[in-house]
Amino acid sequence: MTRTHDGASRTSNHRLLAWVDEIALLCNPDRIYWCDGSQQEYDRLCNEMVESGSFIRLNPEKRPNSFLARSHPSDVARVEDRTYICSEREEDAGPTNNWMDPRRMKQILKGLFRDCMRGRTMYIIPFSMGPLGSPIAQIGVEITDSAYVVVNQRVMTRMGQPVLDALGPDDAFIPCVHSVGTPLQHGEEDVPWPCATNIQDKYITHFPETREIWSYGSGYGGNALLGKKCLALRIASVMARDEGWLAEHMLIVGVQPPEGKKIYIAAAFPSACGKTNFAMLIPPPAFDGWKVTTVGDDIAWIKPNTDDGRFYAINPEYGFFGVAPGTNAESNPNALAALNANCIFTNCALTDDGDVWWEGLTKEPPEHCIDWRGQDWTPGSGTPAAHPNARFTAPSAQCPSIDPEWENPAGVPISAFLFGGRVSKHFPLVFQSYNWEHGVYMAATMGSEATAAAIGQAAMRRDPMAMLPFCGYNMADYWRHWLRIGRRNVATPPAIFRVNWFRKDEHGRFVWPGFGENMRVLKWVVDRCNGRSSAIESPLGWVPGYTAINWQGLDFAAKDYFAIMNIDCEVARHETNDQEELFTRFGDHLPREMEIQRELTLLRLFHSPEVWDLALVPHLEDRPARPQTV
Ligand code: OXD
Ligand code: MN
Repeated sequence: MTRTHDGASRTSNHRLLAWVDEIALLCNPDRIYWCDGSQQEYDRLCNEMVESGSFIRLNPEKRPNSFLARSHPSDVARVEDRTYICSEREEDAGPTNNWMDPRRMKQILKGLFRDCMRGRTMYIIPFSMGPLGSPIAQIGVEITDSAYVVVNQRVMTRMGQPVLDALGPDDAFIPCVHSVGTPLQHGEEDVPWPCATNIQDKYITHFPETREIWSYGSGYGGNALLGKKCLALRIASVMARDEGWLAEHMLIVGVQPPEGKKIYIAAAFPSACGKTNFAMLIPPPAFDGWKVTTVGDDIAWIKPNTDDGRFYAINPEYGFFGVAPGTNAESNPNALAALNANCIFTNCALTDDGDVWWEGLTKEPPEHCIDWRGQDWTPGSGTPAAHPNARFTAPSAQCPSIDPEWENPAGVPISAFLFGGRVSKHFPLVFQSYNWEHGVYMAATMGSEATAAAIGQAAMRRDPMAMLPFCGYNMADYWRHWLRIGRRNVATPPAIFRVNWFRKDEHGRFVWPGFGENMRVLKWVVDRCNGRSSAIESPLGWVPGYTAINWQGLDFAAKDYFAIMNIDCEVARHETNDQEELFTRFGDHLPREMEIQRELTLLRLFHSPEVWDLALVPHLEDRPARPQTV
């Protein structure tokens, strides 16, 4: 059949032209459209989606140029069970990934993709992860049959003709193929959110050796916006291993003290631990003159620079794809301000005055709204109005706390890495590693408590470096890569810290106020990096004594501080023993350093009192600040 080619294909890249032909032949769309990334194109596609019922235009007086989409109820989140790493060898995917032989997966995909775009438009989306022209950035091209994906990609990435202009005639790009998996028969009417409604029909697949991504059956988030988790983490982690850099599930913040050097910190938290809030933290009033700025909220690409021996990071994304519920004027005023206009909301509730709402946005819920399923909702309905994983897609540039350097192609220099889990007992509020290897071990063993009501006891869901669902190769090889990169190229690698905002008291209440008050911990981290603050040696790492934290403006008793800093060595030993189970899963791939660090930790715990209590270390003067030992 003859296909119409809309939009000019302004590229001379041979590989791209040949690949587009190949995919068009396979998927058999009615039309092919090359996205130019312009505002007109965005507006036109949004209008078309309003007409077709996929989008609802929000009240322009309340939220100009913004839209609400409601997904199919079967398509509301990333599908980790249907996510595959198809490396040549199974052991290269490792025990924490789903693996399938690449030839077998290609066969399955060829069957699924054959004619899958019939009746639809095939959009070609050239995009750059990272500022165009940055030596750290990468170019990808996503082919999709979803206009929702096109407009989201325009917010989340630098997209369109400028990317094609930057792609030379022979340059390589990362090919990403996406289909919602619902071809239309002649004359058949489309549904607002097409997708494969059976979970078994969804496939999110990665081919690390050939650096390809194929995604089928889902239109949602990381399953469909392939630049994010698929390219910027799973495929990029493999590229980073091969090329000597890091692709991490990390936010990046700048912290400017009133006097002294501004420093940048990259931090990894598992999903649903308040990452976006931390990335946009507003210091409490007592921190007059301190400023926290946002470079990124989810992903960091980090390269060691051999000239000055430092690590430089960029945020490869251009927008935020954040969880809406819980976002409000107290938890995150910066995010809220970023949502005032030009945003796409997915699975939020629609208010009677044409705006969006979600649980936690206001103290009082609206008396009536339309919930994420499109049904009437009142506070008595007994179900959430917004889906708990409802999202906003917002341009980063709209965030008031955006860092002036966020688009610097050279990146920002990273002074510290923070790793945080969600643990109610025994892990102190903050502690610093003794050295790089110890820090990598701390990051590799981090985790969050699973709500294991069935087990009756809190069990740890390990999430090494918050990369469990995102590392595109064997996790133990990834640890080895971390160990190496800290030793090589750099004079002093960034300092490494663990944080835990989630300690609970004996009544099950959170002790630490969190949110903006996390600034107090951040200040100690910054002071440590600037060689200004003291620390005390604990069995788990360096910790701040009570006086090393600025308590101005917060009524937080010393006894409460000690309560969230003490270490129950019996429990900590149990936890450290438990890490063996994680380590043994990797067999020969496990770097020796990991086991050595685990045993050193056990030794320190054996030689410590039953409860290592910071309050009982009065005779020890806080150790003076000293540079981190490598
Ligand atoms: C995310 C996640 O959506 O980590 O960023 O799940
Ligand atoms: Mn994330």
